[in-house]
Parts: sequence; C-alpha cells; structure tokens
Amino acid sequence: MFSSQLLMVVGLAASIVCCCPPSCPSGWTYLEKTTSCYKVIKKEGGLDQSEAQALCVSLGSNLTSIHSDEEHDFINDIAETSVNVSTWLMTMTGGVRTGGKATDWKWIDGTPFDYTNWAPKMPDNDWQTALQVYTAVGYPSWDSASLGPYSTSHRHWDDIRADKKFINAVCKRPATRQ
Ligand SMILES: *[C@@H]1O[C@H](CO)[C@@H](O)[C@H](O)[C@H]1NC(C)=O
Ligand SMILES: *[C@@H]1O[C@H](CO)[C@@H](O)[C@H](O)[C@H]1NC(C)=O
Repeated sequence: MFSSQLLMVVGLAASIVCCCPPSCPSGWTYLEKTTSCYKVIKKEGGLDQSEAQALCVSLGSNLTSIHSDEEHDFINDIAETSVNVSTWLMTMTGGVRTGGKATDWKWIDGTPFDYTNWAPKMPDNDWQTALQVYTAVGYPSWDSASLGPYSTSHRHWDDIRADKKFINAVCKRPATRQ
C-alpha cells in the first residue's frame, strides 16, 4: 500500500519534470547541448550583420553565439546543408568586436565570450568588427595545395567588416517547453 502510493508520487513527480521536452518552432533545428534552436537565414542580395540581426530579432532570436566545439560544428553543418555553394561559404555570426585587442569580442545575445575557434593569425584587423566562420572553403573541390593558407581556415573564425553582405547567417533562440 505504502509502496504503491510512493510509486504514484514518484511517477507524478517524474511526469511533471519530464512532461514538456524542449522544442523548436517549425523551421528551426534543435541542439540538445545548448537546449537552443537555430535557423539559417538567407536573403536575395545578402545580409550585413545589422540586417541579419534585425531579421533574427523579428523571428524572436538573436544572431548566434558559439560556446563549444559541438555548437560550432552544428552551426557549420546546418549552414553548409542549407546553402548551395560551388566555392566558398562564410557564415555570419553574432560576434562583435569591442576593442582593438584579439580578446575584445562579445556576443550580441549577451552570453559570455567563453570559447574561440579563430583561424591562424586571426583576428587581424581592428576595423573588422564582425565575426564570420569559414564554413566551406573552395567547397566542394577544395584541396589544400590550391588554397594555400586558407586550407587552415576551413571551419575556423575570422574577423570581417560588419557591412559585408553575407549569403547566410545563423539565428539562435532558447528552445521552449510546451
Ligand atoms: C542544391 O542544388 C542541387 C542541384 O541543383 C539541388 O538538388 C538541391 O536541392 C539544392 N539544395 C539546396 C539546399 O538548395
Ligand atoms: C537577445 O539578446 C539580448 C541581449 O542583447 C537578450 O537580452 C535577449 O534575451 C536575447 N533574446 C533571445 C531570444 O535570445
């Protein structure tokens, strides 16, 4: 008797805790590690960083931050599969330069700048105030010999002008529990 009541209480508590798995709005992709949703945005003619951020905000999100290898790889994977490129694909993120030093960066979504994945010698220009990822270099037929120094940039970060128009950018928002 006591044990069946206990089981009921435990079961009820478990169903309350587990009732609402995190989920994403349609068109967004879920990453369990961050319990966040991501969406690749594109626009005819391209998007610079502030245009991309405005579009993300209109979708209830911000330009993405990146906090781990897993999140970095995930963002590159969804970017690479949602855009057809024959040569290069750079992905705009929510990284913003705050000063002249290599460490002077923040994320638009206000989360700590606690992970980096810079390409060799990057960031290199303090007038380049946005953070892009070299998602694909020379794709699909890139070979390290013809790319020279860029072969080491594949899937790494670079500083870039904030007004450069990008084919794509990635928005991020917390998953919701329904
Ligand atoms: C990319 O192009 C190929 C061939 O034209 C097409 O089959 C595929 O659906 C395209 N993918 C995207 C994401 O547009
Ligand atoms: C977007 O970023 C702002 C900080 O700039 C933050 O206050 C807000 O919660 C973020 N929104 C989402 C949906 O992450």
